[in-house]
Amino acid sequence: MNKVELQKIFDDLTLKEKIYQLVQLSGEFFKSDTLAVGPKQKLGIDQEVVDNVGSIFNVFGAEQLIKIQKEYLEKSRHKIPLLFMADIINGYKTTYPIPLALGCTWNPELVKEGMSNTAEEAAVTGIHITFSPMVDLVRDARWGRVMESTGEDNYLNCEFAKAFVEGYQGDLNPDKNIASCVKHFAAYGAPEGGREYNTVDMSERRLREDYLPAYKAAVDSGCELVMTSFNTVDGIPASGNKWLMRDVLREEWGFNGVIISDYAAIQELIAHGVAEDDREAAKLGIEAGVDIDMKTPVYSNQLEGLVKDGVISEEFIDEAVWRILNLKNKLGLFENPYRGANIDKEKEVILSPEKRKLARKISGESIVLLENNGVLPLSKDKKVAVIGPYGESRVLSGSWAINSNPKDVITLMDAVKEKVSEENFTYAKGCEMIEDKSILGGFGRAVEEEKIEVDPQKDMDEAIEAAKKSDIVIMALGEHPLQSGEGGSRTELSLEKIQLDLLEKVKELGKPVVLVVFNGRPLVLTDVVGKVDAIVEAWFPGTEGGNAVADVIFGDVNPSGKLTMSFPRRVGQAPLYYNEFNTGRPVKTSIHNSRFTSRYIDVENSPLYPFGYGLSYTKYEYGDINLNSDKLTNDSEIIATIKVKNVGSVAGLETVQLYIQDIKGSVVRPVKELKGFMKVELQPGEEKEFKFTINEEMLRFYTASMEFKSEPGKFKLYIGCNSSEVKETNFELL
Ligand code: NOJ
Repeated sequence: MNKVELQKIFDDLTLKEKIYQLVQLSGEFFKSDTLAVGPKQKLGIDQEVVDNVGSIFNVFGAEQLIKIQKEYLEKSRHKIPLLFMADIINGYKTTYPIPLALGCTWNPELVKEGMSNTAEEAAVTGIHITFSPMVDLVRDARWGRVMESTGEDNYLNCEFAKAFVEGYQGDLNPDKNIASCVKHFAAYGAPEGGREYNTVDMSERRLREDYLPAYKAAVDSGCELVMTSFNTVDGIPASGNKWLMRDVLREEWGFNGVIISDYAAIQELIAHGVAEDDREAAKLGIEAGVDIDMKTPVYSNQLEGLVKDGVISEEFIDEAVWRILNLKNKLGLFENPYRGANIDKEKEVILSPEKRKLARKISGESIVLLENNGVLPLSKDKKVAVIGPYGESRVLSGSWAINSNPKDVITLMDAVKEKVSEENFTYAKGCEMIEDKSILGGFGRAVEEEKIEVDPQKDMDEAIEAAKKSDIVIMALGEHPLQSGEGGSRTELSLEKIQLDLLEKVKELGKPVVLVVFNGRPLVLTDVVGKVDAIVEAWFPGTEGGNAVADVIFGDVNPSGKLTMSFPRRVGQAPLYYNEFNTGRPVKTSIHNSRFTSRYIDVENSPLYPFGYGLSYTKYEYGDINLNSDKLTNDSEIIATIKVKNVGSVAGLETVQLYIQDIKGSVVRPVKELKGFMKVELQPGEEKEFKFTINEEMLRFYTASMEFKSEPGKFKLYIGCNSSEVKETNFELL
């Protein structure tokens, strides 16, 4: 529809009708009348709002979406179609590994392909927008939502933000693409103590330098929407933060798309203590520039009064409505309100063999080999026992894959059975995933499934029997899927005691043990490292998870995943990240005796496994770094080259990582910062030269005067296989 026609519709809307466009409700309001009574009453939402609402979230399936849109339009005066949004975080029906694992692929191009497949699956069901990517920088493994982020590094997160957005949106083809909503703006990844929904407080310098760039990368990639966050930013909750949304997002970054609140976040301004009541919350939200209120009656019931009483200008409403109408128009909804929704295509596109194939490849690249004393890869003619609750689990997609079906998931047990012969395979669950299921409460659906009778002794005995019959044991352990994700903050990050007891008992048999861990965050594995022969970090690997893990275990895929979050030795190290500051008393170089340096007295500062770390079945030898010049100017470049050789006997994918340290600045600079990487295949015996270009732009930061620029001086340049094993050299910016 052209702008003139759109303007005509806009001009004809009453104030109330405009306001309803700014409201988003969830699916239960539309599925059936009986169901709608509950939430409507609870929220104080009138039927009139439901009939005129602008958007809906988390309704799934073409049939359902077509029906809702049709019924809605029949009643609608201006025939403005509904927008359908949904949480499609790591795949729709074909699920991929959780985003933290996707980060570990260090392969944004591949992830982009995955998200483009996801967009197609969602588009044919009639979904228009996904609440993804989540690009919150994460440094504290206690926070359950680290699973939704690609990790602790700002440079890498920017690369992935772009990949996600481009993958989903493509050219917004109605049958293949959906719009993307980046979240949670801003800095949601830094809640104090790692506690969900908790306060975030940091300097503007840190915010701009580390936390904001990934949202900006998404915006610069054309992301259509931005979702606010639950936390405070400099004392003001993000969902009512004018500076954040009007000054930074709109003014500085030029974002013209739609801003949506997180779930009930505008109403929560009251609990935060910055709004007296719903009326004041609505005022703060709209003045700050939040266009859509997710699932509260705040906008629907308060904005009209605020305008009529002259408290706020109607212009605030107008600008928000105009943006929403434009988005609907851009998605082609006025021409075809059902957009890509197509029941026949849905069957053909979803979980197609090609989609599964790509999911298996992506999962394979996301798996990180943490330990291996040579036991892996396993030979396929050995007798193998898979032991542990994750052997048979179909819940391998993490807590966010709300619309995937566990029945579609390939279990580890089935995948391993396929690699070895049936006679050489045994499985025993061994124990429950978690002893105290009450800690998972409040999630409804998934907890219901847990109400089954258990016999721990029988489980254990069966596991020991299975292990006795085998040459090698694959222990499939990990976190319960609901121990991470939203509302999944933890203060203990070790494996559950029942799982550790099982491991201990199996280990007593003296057979080689390969531990495969399924989890949504870095776990504390310090106490299990010495007890097993290999550790495979599988994360929550998605629909093809079982196959992908088995591919790695049996060497059909050489592991290449590298961590994008540091693994702590002990929980007390959190927050833990590689690009920290030196402090005035660094352990290694301080003039003070070790007691009075910046350290813990009970554990080393370093992580158990650093950022960028991951093993392979082959070995790579790094040569020395060669620079074409060690002097850089504002208009010149330095070319840094390094030779890397595969000195092992199998082909592998290696991620070569470039880090830079600004040794002295007008403000303290990190000990190292990732500035580039390349993932390349090397055949056995093959040597390749990797070439990185260094320019002045890469050295910019927020100086003492808050200008984003570089400062002349000395720099260190590192290239290596992870953030701590590196070759180094120096250069100077003139
Ligand atoms: C709350 C979560 O914080 C957000 O990530 C999600 O998109 C919304 N709920 C909608 O489900």
